[in-house]
Amino acid sequence: MSRESEDVLRSLPTESRFYPSYRYSSQVAAAHSSPDSFWSSQARKLEWFRNWDKVLEWEEPYARWFVGGTINASFNALDRHIHTSRRNKVAYIWEGENGEVRSLTFQDLFREVNKFANLLVAQGIVRGDRIAIYMPMVPEFIIAILAATRIGATFSVIFSGFSAMALAGRLNDSKTKLVVTADVGHRRGKVLKLKEIVDEAVTSAPSVERIVVYRREGKDVDMKEGRDIWWQDSIKDVKTYLAPEHLDSTHPLFILYTSGTTGKPKGAVHGTGGYLTYAYATQKWVFDGREDDVYWCTADIGWITGHTYVIFGPLLHGLTSVIFEGTPDYPTPEKWWEIIERHKVSIFYTTPTAIRSLMRHGNDLPNKHDLGSLRLLGTVGEPINPAAWEWYYDIIGGTRCPIVDTFWQTETGGILISPSPNLGLVPLKPGSATLPLPGIEADIVDENGSSVPLGVRGFLVIKRPWPGMFANLYEDPERYKEVYWTKFPGSYYTGDYAVRDKDGYFWLLGRADEVLKVSGHRLGTIEIEDALMGHSSIAEAAVSSRPDPIKGEGIIIFAVLKRGLSPSQDLKDGLKQQVRKVLGPIATPDEIHFVSALPKTRSGKIMRRVVKAVASGASIGDVTTLEDEASVEELKKAVEEFSKTVSG
Ligand code: WTA
Repeated sequence: MSRESEDVLRSLPTESRFYPSYRYSSQVAAAHSSPDSFWSSQARKLEWFRNWDKVLEWEEPYARWFVGGTINASFNALDRHIHTSRRNKVAYIWEGENGEVRSLTFQDLFREVNKFANLLVAQGIVRGDRIAIYMPMVPEFIIAILAATRIGATFSVIFSGFSAMALAGRLNDSKTKLVVTADVGHRRGKVLKLKEIVDEAVTSAPSVERIVVYRREGKDVDMKEGRDIWWQDSIKDVKTYLAPEHLDSTHPLFILYTSGTTGKPKGAVHGTGGYLTYAYATQKWVFDGREDDVYWCTADIGWITGHTYVIFGPLLHGLTSVIFEGTPDYPTPEKWWEIIERHKVSIFYTTPTAIRSLMRHGNDLPNKHDLGSLRLLGTVGEPINPAAWEWYYDIIGGTRCPIVDTFWQTETGGILISPSPNLGLVPLKPGSATLPLPGIEADIVDENGSSVPLGVRGFLVIKRPWPGMFANLYEDPERYKEVYWTKFPGSYYTGDYAVRDKDGYFWLLGRADEVLKVSGHRLGTIEIEDALMGHSSIAEAAVSSRPDPIKGEGIIIFAVLKRGLSPSQDLKDGLKQQVRKVLGPIATPDEIHFVSALPKTRSGKIMRRVVKAVASGASIGDVTTLEDEASVEELKKAVEEFSKTVSG
C-alpha cells in the first residue's frame, strides 16, 4: 500500500457525519422562507377546476388550504390518466386470500368508479352526505371511496376488525346515510360476516337509510326490502360516466376515526385540496415512484396509511400498486415473498409488526424467493427496533435497498418525518425516522414548551400548519382545540415522545399519552376500560401495556371484581369476549390480572404511570403520593406469577 493511501485511511472519519443533499436542503429552505409559494408549486402539480385565491388561511388552530380553489379527488386520481398512455396501465393488481388474482387498469377503475358514483346518486346521495365503508380488502373498497369523492360525499372508512358496536358508534357520530359493505370478508381463512355485523350496527344507527352489499361469495344474507341493495345487481343499468363535482378545496374529503385519551374515538376530518397536495408531494419525496415501478403498501384501507399510500398517493402519480387481501402469515408465512417475486414489486411499504412476525420464521422462506426486484423498503406505524430493521435491510432488501422509516399520524394526512430518496437520501440509522420533510417545522419541547437540547427526551410538536394537516374533529371543535393545540399554544401536539441525536436526527420513543400501539393499531386505554366496565362482574379496571416482541405492545388488564366474586378462567374469557364485543378483535387483551385494588392517589385517581411501570416491568419510581402502597405489590405479584406460568 502506498504512503498516500495509508494517510487517507488514517484520516477517514470513524463516526458517521451527516451532510444533507443540496436538493433536500434547498427545498427545506424554500419551504421555510416562502411557504406559500412552496406549497403552491406542489399544488400546481394537480389539476384544479379553479385556481385558489389564497394558499393558506391560518386562524389558529384552523388552517384552510388553497381557499377559493375547486378540485375533485377522483378526477385527479383517474381522469387525468385516461387521456394519456397510462390509460391501459395497470392501477391495481389484487390478490385474494384464496389465490385469486385480478388486475384493473386505470381505464377499468375509471369506468367502475363512474358507475358506482351513478349508483350512489341513484340512491339519493348528494354532495356533503356521509357514506361509510365497511369492506374487506377487495378492489371495490377503492372503487366505493373514489366514487364518493367524485360526487362530493364525505366518506368514512371503518376497519373491518371493528365490532358492530364500534361501527354503530361511528355511524351515529357522523350521521351516515349509506353504508357500503360486502356479504363476507376473509381473514386468516376465517369468514367475516360483514353484512350481518352491519345489520346489527344499524339497529342502533337510525341515520342509515341504505346499505349497498358487494357480493363477494354469494353467501345467503338477509336483505331488507327498501333498505338493502346488491352492488352487482344495481350497477347493471347505470351509465359509465358521471361528471365530477367541482368541490371547494376545503370540502371534507373523509372522516377517519382514531383512538384518543377518552372512551370516544375522534373523527379526524380531512379537507380535499390540501390533503391531495400533501399526498402527492410526500408520495414523491419518500417513495420516488417511477413509471415502471410496482409499488406495494400492505396497509389495510381501514387505516390512514391505506387512505394516503394505497389509494391517493399512488393513483395521483399513476403508479401500479399491488393489494393483498390477507395478513402477512396467511395462508403461509412466505405468501408475501411469493407476491413480491410474482409481481416484481420494487417499492415495498409495511409495518414493524409485520416484519417481526415474518422474521420469526427465519431466513429460509424469503431466501427461497427472488426478491431482486425490490429497490426501496419502508416502515410505518410504530418505532422499529434495530434488529428488525437490520433483518429487513439484509434479508429482504439484500443490502441493496434503503429503508424509509416514516413517522406520521391519522391527523397529519401524510408522512412528516422520513428519509427522502427523491430529495437526496441522508445516511440511515436503524430506528430513526431521520429528518422532517420540507415544510415540516418539527421541534421537541419540554412541559413548558421550550425546545430541549439534543439528546434530551421531550414532546414532539409541529410549529406550522402543512397542507396534509386535518381540518378538525367531526363536529367537535372543542376537543380538537383541547387535544392538539392547548398543551403547547401555537404548536400542533403529536402526543409522541421523541429525542434528537447529535446529527439532529429524530428518534420516536412512543406515545406520551394514554394511547397504545398494538400491532400498529392505535387503541386508547380508556376506551378499553370503558368496554370492560360494561361487564357485570367488574368494579374497576386499569388497562396498560407491556412490550411485546412481535406486536410492539400487548394489552394488560388489571381488574377489580365486584364484592363476592372470585377470579376464574371463565371470568377472564368473559372479559375478553366483552372487549371483542364492544371494540372488536383488534383490542383483545393479552393478559388479565384480578387484583383487590388499583394503585391510586389520595384523591382517588388511578396512578397510570405506576400501572404502566408494573405492567412493563420497569422501575416504579416515586410512589409517595400513593394512597395504598400494598396495591402496587399486589399488581407486581400478579404480573410475576403470570410470567412464571408462561415461562414454566
Ligand atoms: C406511531 C399511522 C415510530 C406514533 C400512520 C404516532 C410511529 C402513531 C411511526 C400514529 C414511526 C407512526 N416510528 N412511531 N415511523 N409511525 N408511529 O394515527 O406513536 O395510526 O403518533 O397513524 O403511530 O398512529 P396512526
